[in-house]
Amino acid sequence: MTQETLSTTTADYGLVIDGEVVDSQSGELFDAVDPATEEVIATVAAAQTEDVVDAVDAARDAFPDWKATPPQERGRLLNELARRIREQEDELARLETLDNGKPISHARSDVEVCARYFEYYAGIADKIHGDSIPLTSEYADYTIREPLGVTGQIIPWNLPTNIFGRSVAPALASGNVSVVKPAEQTPLTAVEIGKLALEVGIPAGVLNVVPGFGAEAGAALSSNPDVDGISFTGSVPTGQEVMRTASDNITEVHLELGGKSPNVVFPDADMETALDGAITGIFANAGQVCSAGSRLLVHEDIHDEFVSRLADRASSLSVGPGIDDNDMGPLVSEGHLEKVTRYLEVGRNEVGEPVTGGDVIDRDGYFVEPTIFDGVSNDMRIAQEEIFGPVLSVIPFADEEEAIELANDVNYGLVAGVFTENLGRAHRFARDVRAGQIFINEWFAGGVETPFGGFKDSGFGREKGLAAIDSYTQTKNVCANIEQR
Ligand code: NAI
Ligand code: MG
Repeated sequence: MTQETLSTTTADYGLVIDGEVVDSQSGELFDAVDPATEEVIATVAAAQTEDVVDAVDAARDAFPDWKATPPQERGRLLNELARRIREQEDELARLETLDNGKPISHARSDVEVCARYFEYYAGIADKIHGDSIPLTSEYADYTIREPLGVTGQIIPWNLPTNIFGRSVAPALASGNVSVVKPAEQTPLTAVEIGKLALEVGIPAGVLNVVPGFGAEAGAALSSNPDVDGISFTGSVPTGQEVMRTASDNITEVHLELGGKSPNVVFPDADMETALDGAITGIFANAGQVCSAGSRLLVHEDIHDEFVSRLADRASSLSVGPGIDDNDMGPLVSEGHLEKVTRYLEVGRNEVGEPVTGGDVIDRDGYFVEPTIFDGVSNDMRIAQEEIFGPVLSVIPFADEEEAIELANDVNYGLVAGVFTENLGRAHRFARDVRAGQIFINEWFAGGVETPFGGFKDSGFGREKGLAAIDSYTQTKNVCANIEQR
């Protein structure tokens, strides 16, 4: 697989820096691997510190003009990019599936969501404005919302195209420039979108893409003193490291660090709806989702029937290459398969055999069975630690008070879901559970328009919706003494 546009790079996928597609200065390459076949599908330029410095310098140079570009013009360019992303949906979705493993229909929807982010923030570009503040009559006071400047987006491998749009679109719309570091497991679509941005006329240096490894390219970005803001999505330890590094330069950081989110099913729920929510919550994207519903809290009155029907559904999911649009694709990498396999062992030690699944599938690629452990107690490791795979922990509960207590009894606080037909109960749950998003009667409810981010160890800062504009702007207050002299 090679780049479609003419390129003089050695790598099939180069770095996008200052309007050009280039090799890394060292010439270093890495392989993009298809997790469904374990085959190398392309070579990618591996950005090193000096390449990231170049990208940040290019962005810094591009910033004054981009900031001064009329907001409606920025919006027009982002709408053009959205249009091009949609035009390229077939190719981008295919690349995403080959690189990440996910079912092609899911990859298509991620590409559409990415286009939606650019379109949504394109429409906001010319609606970002400050306030005027009434002081005494001797003063005129107003605020200006200014972009941060050079922003870095460190992107994970689970939803590469989706999170590209989520973190880059609001940055550019509000007048920032970007350097994007995609995950080493899934760099391909980011490079392609970086090239599409150039095609539609987004000026050189405004959007740079530097694929490479976390410890090298990622760290070079978060430690660069010329970066004004970092948006990071990934694991807690890496998020802590990014925050530590960024602190040397007082760089603003926003962290989205995953979760161990509770999905709570009451006896008065519509059972089919709750089963759909439980299945989607943990098996979509093979459970590799920050907002997965990985702890299923089921009321004891319905527990046996619910778990038995859930296990039937889970065991009937088709697992295979995403390109054939199976229900579930492989895990993203060999290393991640090892992590999830270790948790299958932990689960067996903690509660015994799972009610369904529990094994790695004996074939090429990194496939694991959809797995459900029942009778889990909330203090076990499989109830407290993010597995990030198709592994569900079912925890029975007796009443509403206990459900809320269990829901909150975890270090994370990204999302939480409740299935019930009782309106008051649903909103008491929303009031009392400490998480950034509450889903009522639908797992993953919400869209590009709704603010998203964590409480507790799930991080801070908000993406999506209008809230992302707050994350990417800083307020300047202007106060004038207008007394006649
Ligand atoms: P990670 O947090 O190490 O990687 C995420 C991104 O950070 C990648 O682009 C990576 O290259 C970059 N990175 C790594 N080290 C860095 C450093 N020192 N400085 C700057 N950037 C760096 O996650 P990893 O190792 O791929 O996955 C481990 C676990 O993290 C998963 O099993 C899952 O539990 C969690 N995770 C959570 C995600 C979420 O959506 N919140 C996404 C991906 C992983
Ligand atoms: Mg890959």
